[in-house]
This record gives sequence, C-alpha cells and structure tokens, in this order.
Amino acid sequence: MGKIFAVTSGKGGVGKSTVSAGLAVSFSTLGYKTLVVDMDEGLRCLDLMLGVDKQVVLDLSDILNGREINDAVYEVKQNLFLIPAPQKIGLIDAFSLANFANDVNNLYDIVIFDFPAGIDFSLYGSLPKDSLFLTVAFPDAVTVRDAAVVSGLLGEMGLSSRLIINRFEYKLSKKRSFKGIDDIIDEAYLQLVGIVPNSDELKNLSSGKIPKQKSKPMKAFIRIAKRLLGENILLPKVKKI
Ligand SMILES: Nc1ncnc2c1ncn2[C@@H]1O[C@H](COP(=O)(O)OP(=O)(O)OP(=O)(O)O)[C@@H](O)[C@H]1O
Ligand SMILES: [Mg+2]
Repeated sequence: MGKIFAVTSGKGGVGKSTVSAGLAVSFSTLGYKTLVVDMDEGLRCLDLMLGVDKQVVLDLSDILNGREINDAVYEVKQNLFLIPAPQKIGLIDAFSLANFANDVNNLYDIVIFDFPAGIDFSLYGSLPKDSLFLTVAFPDAVTVRDAAVVSGLLGEMGLSSRLIINRFEYKLSKKRSFKGIDDIIDEAYLQLVGIVPNSDELKNLSSGKIPKQKSKPMKAFIRIAKRLLGENILLPKVKKI
C-alpha cells in the first residue's frame, strides 16, 4: 500500500500545483514510484508543468469511465507519472474516484492528488481515510486564515491535514502581518511540514522547466518529502530558506 497526499487550499493561486509538481519530482528522485493526479477539471496544468502536455490524449475521466489506468498514465521521468485532469467539468464522480484511488494506492508508492482551490469537499471523502491533506498558504494573514478554515472542515470529516507555506521571502516576512514562522503556525492551528521559498526558478515550471535538484526550491521540496516519509528534518534558519 502506498501513501496518498492531497494538496488543497482555501484561496486559489497559492501554489498547489507547483507544490504537487515539486513534491512529486522529489519523491521520484528519492526512489519512490510516484503518481500525480491532476484534479483541476477544466483547468488542468500539471501536464504543462511536467512537460508532457504534447503527449496527452486520454485523462482521468477516461479511466473513471472504464479505460485501463495505464491508458491515461504519462511518464514524466524515471519513477514519475502523471494522470491529467479532464478538460471539461463534471466528469469526476465520487464513487468511481474512490475505486480509482484504491487501485492506484496499490500500484504506486506515493500518489499526490492536486485539487482545485475552495471549499467544495465533495470528492475528498473518496480518498482512503489515511490520506494526508497538505494545505498550501502564503505567509500572509488572508491565505493562512483560509488554510485554517480548510483544515477545520477536513477535521470535521475525520481527515488529517498539514500546512505548507509557499512563496516565503525572509525580507518580506519582516514587513508582512506575521512576525515569523511561529505566528503563522499559531494562526493556522496546523502542523507545518515545510516552507517553500519564492523563487523565479519555480515560475519556469509553467513552461515545463523543472528546477535543478540543488536549487533552493527543490531542496525545500526534498526536505518536505522526507518529513512526509517520517524523517526528522530540521527547518533551516529562516534566512536560508
Ligand atoms: N514558490 C514560488 N515561487 C515563485 N512562483 C511561484 C511559487 N509557487 C507558485 N508560483 C507561481 O504562482 C502561480 C500560481 O501557482 P500554481 O498554479 O501552482 O497555484 P495553484 O494554487 O495551483 O492555482 P489554482 O488555485 O489556480 O489551481 C504560477 O504562476 C506559479 O509559477
Ligand atoms: Mg492548481
């Protein structure tokens, strides 16, 4: 049985797909057979970010409608595979998704679901109960409060969540509404699993360029992946994130 992670947020545009791609690359680099599933019906993007957009013919809706799983699996690199989201909305139903999630859980070491933003949680209950939700927020009061709302609602459904702070900048952190990382954790009432720096290298992901393994953002993703696998990895000094 693999491990399932579901990436969520309250507000849109906080970096869920970037985090999904960065973590997927990291888990695969660490040697885990990793599948990332784009759940953003109508607005898919991971095929572009992971550079397989030109190959895509079939998507998740085809699997849910009876095609073999492998028919819509695209290999990104060794150990890393993507199932793209449908380009139309309304094609993912909770029952078929639950069966699909169980099947892929048996086929891959790690499965990452990249969900759309917002508080429509109708599909979350389809994932196995031991899935871990990763709620992404910026280091600002609005998105952290939304992350807290999301995690509260997930908790009511019996689902566990953790916090990932994205687009962190040490210099800006001094000027923003939070004085430091502890403030963010206090406000979100959520266990923090990692901080991803604001980085131009990650902006290039939108054109399929995955940052180098030794770059700051990829090092941050590797740290998060290791923590999610149960390793005790300390947070670097905030100036060095
Ligand atoms: N750490 C980062 N540093 C720099 N740019 C980033 C970072 N994270 C995300 N971005 C940029 O922010 C934009 C939004 O990111 P992304 O698409 O991952 O967000 P999202 O939460 O998945 O959005 P949506 O809610 O629409 O699904 C993209 O242009 C992306 O390149
Ligand atoms: Mg997205």
